[in-house]
Amino acid sequence: CKKESSLSKAHDGQYLSTNNMGLNVQSVTTTPYKDQKPGTSGLRKKVAVFREGNYLANFVQSIFNSLPAEELKGSLLVVGGDGRFYNTQALQLIFKIAAGNGVSKVLVGQDGILSTPAVSAIIRGRKAYGGIILTASHNPGGEDNDFGIKWNCANGGPAPESITDAIYQDTLKISEFKKAELPEVDLSKLEEHKFDGFSVEVIDSVDDYLTLLKTIFDFDSLKQLVSRPDFKFVYDSMNGVTGPYCKRIFVDTLGAPESSLMRFHPLPDFGGAHPDPNLTYAHELVELLYSGKYEFGAASDGDGDRNMVLGNKFFVSPSDSVAVIAANAELIPYFKGKMTGVSRSMPTGAAIDRVAEKKGYEFFEVPTGWKFFGNLMDAGRIQICGEESFGTGSDHIREKDGIWAVLCWMQILARKNQPGQPLVSVADIVREYWATYGRNFFTRYDYEEVDSGAANNMMKHLEQVITSAPGQKFGAYTVEKADNFEYTDPIDHSVSKNQGVRFIFTDGSRLIFRLSGTGSSGATIRLYIDQYQADPSKVNIEAADALKDLVAVGLDMSQLVKFTGREKPTVIT
Ligand code: G6P
Ligand code: ZN
Repeated sequence: CKKESSLSKAHDGQYLSTNNMGLNVQSVTTTPYKDQKPGTSGLRKKVAVFREGNYLANFVQSIFNSLPAEELKGSLLVVGGDGRFYNTQALQLIFKIAAGNGVSKVLVGQDGILSTPAVSAIIRGRKAYGGIILTASHNPGGEDNDFGIKWNCANGGPAPESITDAIYQDTLKISEFKKAELPEVDLSKLEEHKFDGFSVEVIDSVDDYLTLLKTIFDFDSLKQLVSRPDFKFVYDSMNGVTGPYCKRIFVDTLGAPESSLMRFHPLPDFGGAHPDPNLTYAHELVELLYSGKYEFGAASDGDGDRNMVLGNKFFVSPSDSVAVIAANAELIPYFKGKMTGVSRSMPTGAAIDRVAEKKGYEFFEVPTGWKFFGNLMDAGRIQICGEESFGTGSDHIREKDGIWAVLCWMQILARKNQPGQPLVSVADIVREYWATYGRNFFTRYDYEEVDSGAANNMMKHLEQVITSAPGQKFGAYTVEKADNFEYTDPIDHSVSKNQGVRFIFTDGSRLIFRLSGTGSSGATIRLYIDQYQADPSKVNIEAADALKDLVAVGLDMSQLVKFTGREKPTVIT
């Protein structure tokens, strides 16, 4: 994406007809909102905030104002969302503003449904100019919960900071938005609705995405795996967007029984669930896997970009998951002979670093946020990347991809298993990985909805601690380096500062503190704990046991309990 350098204000009057279309376009006067700064992944607020006055209209217009007008005019956009409350109403407004701004065509998923990875795939596959995704990802949905919106560029990836900053700046001074008069568009049937110089085409939500997956995996071998009587699996869509995708892919295409799918109907409030695939919020799935009746379990979040993978009584940490996929990439047709580089976000456990080292891949450590991987992918420098926050992905699109990650695991399982031989399990694959590369024990403590002032004070305190920490001993750990992570993008040389306070100890262990950028109220403190163990005889203990001393050091250094009044984290992963 390029950003608009000078805002083109073409029109004054109330009603005007643009050159290329006969639609009535109204120029509506508006006043700015002061809180439309996009976070880690778009703008997220309570539904009630989005429904207020011109809140959504302003933001959509500010997106368009931040793009070069000559590029936007006549362009093709993709829009869709995860089906949460307010999705379809928001879409109808977006059609009108898109038409008002000279967009010539919008592709929208049936019933307004498109997963985040599917939007990315469609933008790329159909060479669209960009897309608008309506989601608050893994945040709860429903009338009293969250809604969200973000802009993705022609490469299929989230807008870079130069664009999101421009959008924010525009929201602070916006004075009008342009809205075409359009009737309500029926999203239930696959058809193109043509207006004068503008159209909305309702497309199948799954087709493009499935076509892409078929070029990545060997579906025949996946079918064989799924048909094994000793391979029972279950996929929890958490009533998010992936339900229809899972039905088509796992049931209709791979032949799994429908009983393999859990919560696979998208619901506006996710059935009251918190659609985040982790050990806390996907506990039903976790319990199923720990019952011993299933060999493989997976879940994805509200918009389908996050994933969690489980084996029989076995949890695969996301930091390990991406490392195992990278270590076994040659077993996945798409990556055969193609691998040159891998990446992870800074707080992610450093497992994949060892894979890069051993295999001679380039390695990049980027700040939290998927957008940072995009430039590296566009430049052909990395193929596989992942984050501790249950995000795993590759250069097949420019978003992380939940179902893709699950299929990577199934492809690795399919290749490691021979018909008629005892099952090689998820745990076998991870243990083999640890035996080869050593293990990075990793855990994350989240303190959700902490008072913002208290959280900021704790971070300020940590800023103080880093200045004198190097050389100091905390418990059994001596600090080698302490800083607030700063990243210079090797491709466009943009600099991102203050990406998390980190302490790196002399044995390579790390403690990282940052405030979440995806919450919609209060502050969420994240404490990340990472420790490497090379000795194969010591890799099979529980992460919680391996890390307890380091956790204690983190709590002590940060004075977290004192600052926040929280004795325990809300979520541990
Ligand atoms: C979103 C982004 C990820 C990021 C995650 C955690 O899912 O796409 O790239 O890792 O949020 O963000 P947070 O700021 O809440 O830790
Ligand atoms: Zn998500």
